[in-house]
Amino acid sequence: MTTSSQESREATNPNWFRQVLGQFPTGVCVVAASPPNGPMAGMVVGSFTSVSLDPPLVAFLPDRSSTSWPKIEAAGKFCVNILGADQESLCRRFASKAPDKFEGISYRLAQSGSPILDDSVAWIDCEIHSVQEAGDHYIVIGKVNELQINTGGLPMLFFQGGYGKFSPLSLVAPDPLGTITEQLRLVDMVRSEMEELAAEFSARCIATARVDNEIVIIAGAGSSKRHTVSTLVGQRLPNIPPTASVFGAWSGDAKIDLWLRASTAPSAQAEVKASLRIIRERGYSVGLVSDAQRAFITTLAKLADGGVAAQDVDLRELIQQLSFDPEQLLPSVQNEVRLISVPVFGPNGDVALALTLYDFPKPPDGVGIQPYLDRMLQSASRATRKIGGFVQE
Ligand SMILES: Cc1cc2nc3c(=O)[nH]c(=O)nc-3n(C[C@H](O)[C@H](O)[C@H](O)COP(=O)(O)O)c2cc1C
Repeated sequence: MTTSSQESREATNPNWFRQVLGQFPTGVCVVAASPPNGPMAGMVVGSFTSVSLDPPLVAFLPDRSSTSWPKIEAAGKFCVNILGADQESLCRRFASKAPDKFEGISYRLAQSGSPILDDSVAWIDCEIHSVQEAGDHYIVIGKVNELQINTGGLPMLFFQGGYGKFSPLSLVAPDPLGTITEQLRLVDMVRSEMEELAAEFSARCIATARVDNEIVIIAGAGSSKRHTVSTLVGQRLPNIPPTASVFGAWSGDAKIDLWLRASTAPSAQAEVKASLRIIRERGYSVGLVSDAQRAFITTLAKLADGGVAAQDVDLRELIQQLSFDPEQLLPSVQNEVRLISVPVFGPNGDVALALTLYDFPKPPDGVGIQPYLDRMLQSASRATRKIGGFVQE
């Protein structure tokens, strides 16, 4: 909605002030404290923010009319509980004027004695550092003494008067050691392609790169059906066929031989070589549904969630059983396609990135996978142009 009315743009019109500021989303927290006399106190705030790293300071802004704030002030300390997306009823309770907001609520006490609510996303325990007056609110600055990620799940968001949750357009792998800086620079240029593919096919799209002797998932787009934003991004896979085949297929015969010798049992090398030729001719690689593929996906999801440790999983073993790139894509086989990978070529003509689409709905009967393949190839060549690469035939 837009307006040109001068009157409604007046900052002194409270409804308008709220409406315009409501365009800005906030997280939602419960600021909770144990006052010296009386029951626990807590109030919902959307005004929580981090302030300073050194010293560690945070802030929130209680309304002068709040009855909870004087109790928190009397405690001299408070714990900020970041609410999860599914904690709306808890939020409503702490935004109410209920006489004892903690009745029936599960919590434990921080070392400071302030309440930590069960199932909060994270908590930040503080002592009051300073309080300043600011119009009809106070600005309360807290010095952080202790903080912890609790569930680490998706936080609740407040926007235009309603509650919601975060949905990422795309996520990029963290790179604390700077080992994938160049790949991150490239993927940043093609993120919009990935986001479009994921949105168009209600699917997920990842970008992988070959880094040293591993395949690293450096970015992902498309929403998870699960509760957290944990994704495959950051995951490292062994540099072996078929998951690395898109990188191998355009390498040139000498390099292909070297790679096969390092990655593949001698008895399987001729078969892999044939599949690399198929990939190069088609311009893409497809993965087919199978028990091994299901086990591979489940294992990757467990690795992403921390449900299983990397050293306890033999990804090589699982990858070697995957079924990829059949000689012919007959209609019956097309129904089995669960993954499509296309190469994005870099400025030196090598495969710089691979874009992979998966989790897509089955194409309607009689349509087949071709529209998906055409669209992936179109994205790949656009991505190649965006990173200044050229397409190898
Ligand atoms: C999403 C949301 C954000 C809020 N943010 C604030 C805030 O930043 N400061 C504030 O004083 N009240 C805020 N409130 C309102 C308080 O939660 C509520 O008025 C207060 O808890 C009322 O009870 P009290 O008298 O116990 O303080 C917010 C409420 C909601 C639902």
